[in-house]
Amino acid sequence: MRKRLVRLSAQVPLKAVRDRTICQDAPAALQYLPDNSFDLLFADPPYNLSKAFNGRRFQSLTLEGYEEWLDRWLGQTVRLLKPDASVYICGDWRSSAAIHRAGSKYFQARNRITWEREKGRGARANWKNCSEDIWFFTVSDTYTFNTEAVMLKRRVLAPYTENGQPKKWQAEEAGRFRLTHPSNLWTDVTVPFWSMPENTSHPTQKPEKLLAKIILASTSAGDVILDPFAGSGTTAVVARKLQRHHVSIERDKHYCCLAEKRLEQAAREPAIQGYAGGVFWERNTFRQMKK
Ligand SMILES: C[S@@+](CC[C@H](N)C(=O)[O-])C[C@H]1O[C@@H](n2cnc3c(N)ncnc32)[C@H](O)[C@@H]1O
Repeated sequence: MRKRLVRLSAQVPLKAVRDRTICQDAPAALQYLPDNSFDLLFADPPYNLSKAFNGRRFQSLTLEGYEEWLDRWLGQTVRLLKPDASVYICGDWRSSAAIHRAGSKYFQARNRITWEREKGRGARANWKNCSEDIWFFTVSDTYTFNTEAVMLKRRVLAPYTENGQPKKWQAEEAGRFRLTHPSNLWTDVTVPFWSMPENTSHPTQKPEKLLAKIILASTSAGDVILDPFAGSGTTAVVARKLQRHHVSIERDKHYCCLAEKRLEQAAREPAIQGYAGGVFWERNTFRQMKK
């Protein structure tokens, strides 16, 4: 695994890093990547919380301090992106305003997705925190958005009929369903529970289904995705499963190896839990357990 990892000390062409995990501090690696090369930037940085990633601590900053921290690496990504590229940046309610401001300095803010994580973090004297924000920006007014590739299949509660025929729903083995257009409120994506095959030991692993929505909506087959805070490699894994390319940066060697291991498995197990038959299914329609 370790042999596949890359470390950069000079400018490289895209082919030298395409589908590779760069084991390095993001700002140090970004300076060596080639201009005008990426169709999508997906960034899931440490949120503005004091939190350790495999022993290395991110110390929470003021909102202004966090915005400056975001700006330091986000500014470096601008020259790397193609003119029609999209940018997604994850955060929680504390860091969301800083992400909006830092992102809007370089890109056009298009939307803020609210992801209901389902599993919340407990609170006795506050509202349980069970959502995250994902800001969607584009470099310009020209960008890819494949709505039809990210349709949501929902269970029908009131199955209307017209002349005895189902109105906009179909009966299937698992129940009655209708296809709906994707909104910016995501309630169909579950955090990777311990029982799910995709689960790893990474403390803030994103679900494959969440990445699949972003990648299918905002890229085409063969496109190249940059993830500067790759963690356990969810972006890379989903990119591979959906015939896209990735360049991943992660500073922790253990997480880099986790990502490489998942990439090997992705070649053997291309399924993405919750995405089947070209549509995204409502949460918990199918449960897939670890073997
Ligand atoms: C929120 S996690 C990303 C999780 C990832 N999306 C996944 O699904 O596994 C953030 C990651 O960024 C890494 N990280 C923190 N600071 C970094 C830096 N300056 N350069 C590169 N990686 C960094 C951490 O080690 C951690 O794995």
